[in-house]
Amino acid sequence: MAAAAAVVAKLCRMALMWLVLVLCVPAVLTLAAAEKEGYIVHMDKSAMPRAFASQASWYESPPAAAAPGADMLYVYDHAMHGFAAGVTAEEMERLRASRGFVSCYRDDGRAVRRDTTHTPEFLGVSASGGLWEASRYGEDVIVGVVDTGVWPESASFRDDGLPPVPARWKGYCESGTAFDAGKVCNRKLVGARKFNKGVVAGTNVTIAVNSPRDTDGHGTHTSSTAAGSPVAGSSFFGYAPGTARGMAPRARVAMYKALWDEGTYPSDILAAIDQAIADGVDVLSLSLGLNDVPFYQDPVAIGAFAAMQRGVFVSTSAGNDGPDPGYLHNGTPWTLTVASGSGDREFAGIVRLGDGTTVIGQSMYPGRPSTIASSGLVFLGACDNSTALARNRDKIVLCDAADSLSAAIYSVQDAKARAGLFLTNDSFRELSEHFTFPGVILSRQDGPALLQYIQRSREPKASVKFGVTVVDTKPAPVVATYSSRGPSASCPTVLKPDVLAPGSLILASWPENVSVATVGNQQLFSRFNVISGTSMSCPHASGVAALIKAVHPEWSPAAVRAVDNTNAPIKDMGRGNRGATPLAMGSGHIDPNRAVDPGLVYDAGPEDYVRLMCAMNYTEAQIKTVAQSPSAAVDCTGASLDLNYPSFIAFFDPGATAPAVRTFTRVVTNVGDAPASYSAKVKGLGGLTVTVAPERLVFGGKHETQKYTVVIRGQMKKKTDEVLHGSLTWVDDSGKYTVRSPIVATTASSAPL
Ligand SMILES: *[C@@H]1O[C@H](CO)[C@@H](O)[C@H](O)[C@H]1NC(C)=O
Ligand SMILES: *[C@@H]1O[C@H](CO)[C@@H](O)[C@H](O)[C@H]1NC(C)=O
Ligand SMILES: *[C@@H]1O[C@H](CO)[C@@H](O)[C@H](O)[C@H]1NC(C)=O
Ligand SMILES: *[C@@H]1O[C@H](CO)[C@@H](O)[C@H](O)[C@H]1NC(C)=O
Ligand SMILES: *[C@@H]1O[C@H](CO)[C@@H](O)[C@H](O)[C@H]1NC(C)=O
Repeated sequence: MAAAAAVVAKLCRMALMWLVLVLCVPAVLTLAAAEKEGYIVHMDKSAMPRAFASQASWYESPPAAAAPGADMLYVYDHAMHGFAAGVTAEEMERLRASRGFVSCYRDDGRAVRRDTTHTPEFLGVSASGGLWEASRYGEDVIVGVVDTGVWPESASFRDDGLPPVPARWKGYCESGTAFDAGKVCNRKLVGARKFNKGVVAGTNVTIAVNSPRDTDGHGTHTSSTAAGSPVAGSSFFGYAPGTARGMAPRARVAMYKALWDEGTYPSDILAAIDQAIADGVDVLSLSLGLNDVPFYQDPVAIGAFAAMQRGVFVSTSAGNDGPDPGYLHNGTPWTLTVASGSGDREFAGIVRLGDGTTVIGQSMYPGRPSTIASSGLVFLGACDNSTALARNRDKIVLCDAADSLSAAIYSVQDAKARAGLFLTNDSFRELSEHFTFPGVILSRQDGPALLQYIQRSREPKASVKFGVTVVDTKPAPVVATYSSRGPSASCPTVLKPDVLAPGSLILASWPENVSVATVGNQQLFSRFNVISGTSMSCPHASGVAALIKAVHPEWSPAAVRAVDNTNAPIKDMGRGNRGATPLAMGSGHIDPNRAVDPGLVYDAGPEDYVRLMCAMNYTEAQIKTVAQSPSAAVDCTGASLDLNYPSFIAFFDPGATAPAVRTFTRVVTNVGDAPASYSAKVKGLGGLTVTVAPERLVFGGKHETQKYTVVIRGQMKKKTDEVLHGSLTWVDDSGKYTVRSPIVATTASSAPL
């Protein structure tokens, strides 16, 4: 019926264009009125009459009631109070007027974005779970992952040596159930459920074996990564030695499949978070987000608020819409927002010239054989001449790909040359390393030596070796071009992202029967895959949070916020490898060892976030939509945009004719040794003056708090979107702790969505 109505409505719209107004308008109205649309409806549970036994019966009852029975999709009681349902416009009108109605918004199946940049390729590496087995870190912390599903057969879920599932787990799985692929779950994979918009509209859940519809692999990768790599600690299949050591290797994983190829619905995300909270997860990892929505229409922000109120730490991805500023999603002050960077590992293609010179480039060509034996080498300019390429098919061709890397790669692939070497300074080259033919990306700096060799030799030759992993290649982490940048549109006055974590070229476990790459027309399979995106960096941060939770179960989610204190310079691929600003990397690269013992923390709770939303001029209904438990009355006393956050962002009007003053107040809690004294050190923000008062903080005891203010004075006269940055570091007299906060001053707009 709905489909037929839609067709008629569409025909009418077409007819409208031809101005057949008289005939069509009444028809459109009648049909539109009967059509059901998906909505998420927030209700004030405290308004539920006592007569009702359950929320569901209340929502479905005629007075509330819009959505009698059949079209009720989910009833929510943990992530929010309310329901998701298909309702007609007429029903919606009644619902808006009914007792307990708070707000509603469309359940749009295109709204949610998954944060993996591209499908990935094979890497011929086998796993070794050494560190994973060796460490006891993270034991009994349960990490809930809301994503695309899970591959229970993965070795990453092996539960050898793990004690029974913690008794407080209220989820689906029985304690200590033996691993049985696709049946229930084990001690590692404590729970797995599907929120199955694509198949049935209902609240029933099933165990997350791979969906039969999920044949392209999208349905499995992210989740297995979270389990197999960062969260479970087996990321340390050699990844990022140092950084990664001890990252929650014994944490449990609960998997909630909420993303489907048929649609990525807010109602499914909320259902998954609702269930995760009910099951009793300690950490939630959400590698997904919605662009351009205010908090009161954002299921991640709404669900995360409820989770935060119950002490659950929520880690989210910044998105993959970089490098231009302002496209970050999940700019939610009560979650950790994670940017993505590369680690110190590269997948190399090693070129050896006839004279013995070796040039190392980047390549993830997965084919076999993995070596191209010594062959003729020829330079073909931009490699845009197909005749020349065809003539040199038996050779290794060198291309100057400065103008267009992708065009050169495409031409060489098309010509089926023996191998292609591409000289480039393209900052997006990280996305081009996935070759389906023998190809290597070379730095432009290697160009002169290569060209000289070709000109000098009578018979230039080269050989290439693929499949080589080079560790410790980069002096520091580099922000990935694709990683979304702040300021956050949903809440510009809180500096986002929070941290940078490894997200490029991450080794992830992968279903063995889903192809990881196509070489020629041959499909390749592997137990592991290499994936990039903030979807990969977010679980790393979740893993760190799990570790901190294990050590400090009493810390609030805000206190767990894993701040980094390293001063290592971090570069930004999106700015030609110049220094990264906090709008790209937040506090910097995540540092598990320091985050677990930071010295000072910045705490904040639900009432602080409510005061923030008050200052953002949210209506009472909008605040209640996000923050349900203080729902009896929203108290906006002390409304302030100045949240107690471990970073600072000051907005200046580029047109101002006089200097302006921006003031911030912070309260720090001493969680390090006591007594302790700290001194303030300010760095950067050329042209603006930054004063901190007091300049020394003295703590007599542990858990004592101290207040300070930061005042930024001056004028930013340049164009809009100027960004100045620096930092405030509290240095402990004993030298043990340094607590650094990034400071940004910008002429970007501070108006929230
Ligand atoms: C959900 O489960 C109940 C109880 O097992 C069953 O009666 C109902 O048909 C199921 N609904 C769907 C949509 O599968
Ligand atoms: C992979 O194998 C599982 C069973 O282990 C099966 O359920 C699934 O359909 C298979 N997927 C593909 C794409 O063959
Ligand atoms: C392309 O290469 C062929 C063969 O080397 C050459 O004859 C021709 O002039 C080239 N075309 C252009 C447009 O440079
Ligand atoms: C690469 O470098 C060349 C020469 O310095 C420059 O002209 C070109 O714009 C650069 N390309 C990119 C993508 O940065
Ligand atoms: C909220 O409204 C007040 C009064 O109109 C205005 O001064 C202020 O700038 C607004 N705040 C935000 C964050 O938009």
